[in-house]
Amino acid sequence: MVKIAVLGYGTVGSGVVEVIRTNQEVINQRLGEILQIKYVLDLRDFPGDPVQDIITHDFEDVVNDEEVKIVVEVMGGIEPAYTFVKRSLMAGKSVATSNKALVAKHGAELLRIAGEQNVNFLFEASVGGGIPILRPLHSSLTGDVIEEIMGILNGTTNYMMTKMFYEGANYDEVLKEAQDNGFAERNPEADVEGYDACRKIAILSSIISGRQVDFEDIYCEGITKITVEDMQYAKAMGKTVKLLATCKRDGDSLSAMVCPCLLSQEHPLYSVNGVFNSVFVHGNMLGDAMFYGSGAGKLPTASAVVGDVVEAAKNLNRNLGNGWSEEKLVLKKKDDVTHRFFVRMKGDREALQEKLGADFGMLQYVVVPEIDGEFGFVTECMPEGEYQKKAADYTEEIISMIRVEE
Ligand code: HSE
Repeated sequence: MVKIAVLGYGTVGSGVVEVIRTNQEVINQRLGEILQIKYVLDLRDFPGDPVQDIITHDFEDVVNDEEVKIVVEVMGGIEPAYTFVKRSLMAGKSVATSNKALVAKHGAELLRIAGEQNVNFLFEASVGGGIPILRPLHSSLTGDVIEEIMGILNGTTNYMMTKMFYEGANYDEVLKEAQDNGFAERNPEADVEGYDACRKIAILSSIISGRQVDFEDIYCEGITKITVEDMQYAKAMGKTVKLLATCKRDGDSLSAMVCPCLLSQEHPLYSVNGVFNSVFVHGNMLGDAMFYGSGAGKLPTASAVVGDVVEAAKNLNRNLGNGWSEEKLVLKKKDDVTHRFFVRMKGDREALQEKLGADFGMLQYVVVPEIDGEFGFVTECMPEGEYQKKAADYTEEIISMIRVEE
């Protein structure tokens, strides 16, 4: 029998209990042993709930119990999760977590401790919810150098972008609707400002580079400035706008970024709509692969956590060696990363055309008949620093800029 403890009985924690109870038989069969939840740690009591008799309010019960071999951390946030995870690992217990904030900030250290203790620190659910992406990167794709990894990693903002694109709804309406439907938090900052996606791409970047990529070093721009007019221009160009989290290899360096991007219909992420997430991977041998599914939600996230629990249970006293070192990776500077830029500009296109052509290169002009007094254009591919320098001459005229993902 393998005994585990679940720290936190919120949405994901109750999902973990539900997944194990619902699929107990098949899980035991696959594990070759019985998986049993010995404790659920929470500040609250849950009278009448299936876990009422195994609730504890004291982490010491969990960490001092030699029988507990695996700890599931689904509390969220940095503290006390960090302390509890670290103490669990030091006590020789494997840990499975869905906590992307914890993994992005302390993942390298916790992986090192897990290695030293010959246990495992697993976090499949921290990126892409229920979508298997970390284990494929660790196992199936170990023969490849990953040259590019790019994803729609936030369901809330993808739901909002999809509604704005297909229904012409404006940002405030769509945010309110997402909040009313429970897709967006009352305080939506972490999602709409891109912070959630940023932590996820930091984890993916660390995994594909084998070094620590700090989320604070990743340029992060959310969707709060995207308008109905931007979507009209996107349609006129046969494109859509998505919040993309990207990490690309360029020689020995990596660049990473979170920002809204224009995607053409041919792009594999174009048709990822609603709350779904997707991760596109390009390997130097593999070529392209894409992973798609439920990026959030109680049961999909819990399913990934339980998958890690079973993996940890199959490998008690054997560190799987997955992860990245604490050595920090310095990312390529944002100013040196090249893009084509879609720019909306006030004024008369014909009057400005010659100077714009000279400044921004071969331009594609876009006009939306319903939008007066402005036009759009796509620049040639150039480093962001060069674009910013040129755009500084047009501060009065430029309405907005969106990067184009080829
Ligand atoms: N708020 C996140 C999302 C949940 O919308 O995708 C999963 O991290």
